[in-house]
Amino acid sequence: MRRFASDKARRAVAASLRVASRSAAPSPAPAPHPLSPAPVAAMAAAMARFMSTASAGVPAVSLDTINPKVRHSPPYFNSFSKLEAWSAEQSARGLKSFGLDWCHCLGCSALLVLKCEYAVRGEIFNHAQKLDCVFVCLLQNLQNELQKNPESLPFDEMLYCNIGNPQILGQQPITFFREVLSLCDHPALLDKSETHALYSSDAIERAWQILDKIPGRATGAYSHSQGIKGLRDEIAAGIAARDGFHASGDNIFLTDGASPAVHMMMQLLIGSEKDGILCPIPQYPLYSASIALHGGSLVPYFLDEETGWGLEIDELKKQLQEARSKGITVRALVVINPGNPTGQVLTEENQKKIVEFCKNEGLVLLADEVYQENIYVEDKQFHSFKKIARSLGYTDDDLPLASFQSVSKGYYGECGKRGGYMEVTGFSPEVREQIYKVASVNLCSNISGQILASLVMNPPKAGDESFESFMVEKDGILSSMARRAKALEEAFNSLEGITCNKAEGAMYMFPRLHLPQKAIGAAQAAGTAPDTYYAKRLLEATGIVVVPGSGFGQVPGTWHFRCTILPQEDKIPAMISSFKEFHEKFMDEYRD
Ligand SMILES: Cc1ncc(COP(=O)(O)O)c(C=O)c1O
Repeated sequence: MRRFASDKARRAVAASLRVASRSAAPSPAPAPHPLSPAPVAAMAAAMARFMSTASAGVPAVSLDTINPKVRHSPPYFNSFSKLEAWSAEQSARGLKSFGLDWCHCLGCSALLVLKCEYAVRGEIFNHAQKLDCVFVCLLQNLQNELQKNPESLPFDEMLYCNIGNPQILGQQPITFFREVLSLCDHPALLDKSETHALYSSDAIERAWQILDKIPGRATGAYSHSQGIKGLRDEIAAGIAARDGFHASGDNIFLTDGASPAVHMMMQLLIGSEKDGILCPIPQYPLYSASIALHGGSLVPYFLDEETGWGLEIDELKKQLQEARSKGITVRALVVINPGNPTGQVLTEENQKKIVEFCKNEGLVLLADEVYQENIYVEDKQFHSFKKIARSLGYTDDDLPLASFQSVSKGYYGECGKRGGYMEVTGFSPEVREQIYKVASVNLCSNISGQILASLVMNPPKAGDESFESFMVEKDGILSSMARRAKALEEAFNSLEGITCNKAEGAMYMFPRLHLPQKAIGAAQAAGTAPDTYYAKRLLEATGIVVVPGSGFGQVPGTWHFRCTILPQEDKIPAMISSFKEFHEKFMDEYRD
């Protein structure tokens, strides 16, 4: 009642102010600044122009004036009705067939893109158009239903296995990292005696060290566009300790996660659709999205499922030649190691061949190493491409290389903090200047992310007060991920019509579905790709959310889905049994 009365009073006051301002005499124009009459006059003229166009009803921005690279990149539909309207429009225009092309899964579950073939005047046009959000819509409906009418559903919770976002599924942040972050953000705590009872002594010490590296000790201030120099030096020292080769803070660009660093490189490397980037298929859709957005051409190379998602040099050569024969200048090779969505870890031998290939073909090597801490098999180890190149004797002058690391993955999983870095070597000073120019457009990356990136590359060491508890947390997370990967791999491989390579690393399984013809027919009748059909049915029956393989690209005619290993360990047995039950019923329904 009181709230209603005060709202009413506020509205009355606001209304009276509006009346007063309308009836008030126009205030005199401000006197021009004595030193800058021209800008004031120009501003007045611009205002007048704006007012006249606005009043003439001419929109300041129309669709036609938007950058065509953005305009022609896939749109996002967030409702079934828009999706249906779009599909109807495509059919009316002679849409021949379509399938999911890539999936962009940040924040929400899945934006799925359709690659369409249009038959217009007898010609077939390949047109990449975004569709759907079959999953977003379905998910939203199911989430609503679960809240309003839970007994109507065959499950009592949704299990999000669609995004590599560990903390959303209950993974706890590393205590030492959060202690340091909180102290840096609120340095007044450092002077309080209670702080020593609450925080570990090395976290307090580290916070002081970090603050001393930040100009003005101000975490709320912009930094150098490459990132705070002292933090870059610390990261470089961490890289040198990891690789056994020199690294320099001058080569580090701190970024808001790996994604902006990838965009930055694409922006630099792509000038037109004649510029190609070799990308693995299946791939993490950041790459296809970024290449599309910057107007370049994705040159696919297929990972070999038969050899555990092997990266074959012959395949690289074949695709490179084919692209070149079409007039495409291939600028760079993307390698994701450990792989997403495929979870493989490259061998040292293979990496050496990749480095030699880039060197011989004059390609920039874009090494996505965000899963460098996520390795679950005894016989594989992470080797950075920088280390491999240096071990082959290549110096900073020999091979242009950009390596990406992130605070989002590993055992830390701090996706929302948006921290990461890119190490660039082998570029001329002029090119380096251009990289810096692009970085400086955004002023700087966020300071908490910068601090976190330095912590990830310089965690507590033996002898530090936090060391033991830090190791317990780190090993606990990584060994649990390894057990979850194993359990899921065994479960998938035990099922009729599913084969699954080992998840050697990263956070995903990418099982192959060998679907009966009848199931493929049912998917076609429903107007979806077979793996999308399967994933939808799985979601409706179990609440388990996976991403259809067509979202990542796959060998035509093969069907997969990506499932993260991130649900907490105590949920895995129930997840496996409900998955199995669904799959067996699905096969019974469709077995040829
Ligand atoms: C292979 C790979 N690279 C880059 C990223 C982007 O990570 P972020 O921008 O959060 O650092 C991801 C996220 O899942 C990824 O899987």
